[in-house]
Amino acid sequence: MPRHEIDMGDRIGEREVREALRPGFPWIGPVCLDVTDSTNRVAMEMAENHAPHGTVVVADAQTAGRGRMGRRWMSPAGKNLYVSLLLRPPVPTADAPRLALVAGVALADAVETVGVPASLKWPNDLYCGGRKAAGILAEMASGPDGVRHVVIGVGLNVNMEEADFPPDLRGVATSLRIRAGRAFRRVDVLARLLDAFGTRYAEFLGGGFGSLRDGWDRRDFLRGRRVLLRRQGGEGWGTADGLDTGGALRFLPDGGPAIESVHSGEILDFMR
Ligand code: BTN
Repeated sequence: MPRHEIDMGDRIGEREVREALRPGFPWIGPVCLDVTDSTNRVAMEMAENHAPHGTVVVADAQTAGRGRMGRRWMSPAGKNLYVSLLLRPPVPTADAPRLALVAGVALADAVETVGVPASLKWPNDLYCGGRKAAGILAEMASGPDGVRHVVIGVGLNVNMEEADFPPDLRGVATSLRIRAGRAFRRVDVLARLLDAFGTRYAEFLGGGFGSLRDGWDRRDFLRGRRVLLRRQGGEGWGTADGLDTGGALRFLPDGGPAIESVHSGEILDFMR
């Protein structure tokens, strides 16, 4: 969509974002781009160039939005939120991947604050009304001294309508607008997300993922469901049994003798 056709009441510019944020807000920037290839790529590059913890990168559109497992993230202009948060967390490298779960809980908090019930599908998806409304992609750089930086990328379908989705996504993807029956100002949703992330991040640093696990448990989309899990070593069906305090999926493989803790993997399918 040409820039002049964007509803200027829904513009995501630095002024608009700053006005929507709480006073005394700790985030840096935001860097607001009309169009870029990927806000995660931009934020990773800024991190390598010493941008500080708390830098926020937002784009109105992405030409090569990155999804998990090498997939693309559909990123048309004027509709959705594409945001990346640059973090320099003081945690051991092994704990850093949990920040994607922290972001999931914060995203659900934010979405519910604007009036849309949300659930969380391990590891990194937000569901509304049984369909995917958002995804999270965490990228990390670490070395012998530990974590250098983590970039948390969030793609949230805000004002997409059913007809805006390509045929293969209709019936599986949704948006806040579809669920609520009204449009949202994207900067308001972004401000709620940044607020919520600040709160949840502080909880995580204070007490680990266990201290915000309640926020996951009450919205757990998979708990008790039969799921097809892919993980290192193969794939297979079993039953999801919530997350443990470290954020691992508790998974009982079909025919298996005991619940296993799965730290990384992908849910390929689930029973509705
Ligand atoms: C997923 O596969 O579900 C994760 C999608 C993450 C997309 C977001 S959009 C903002 C940020 N920049 C990217 O290139 N990807 C993430």
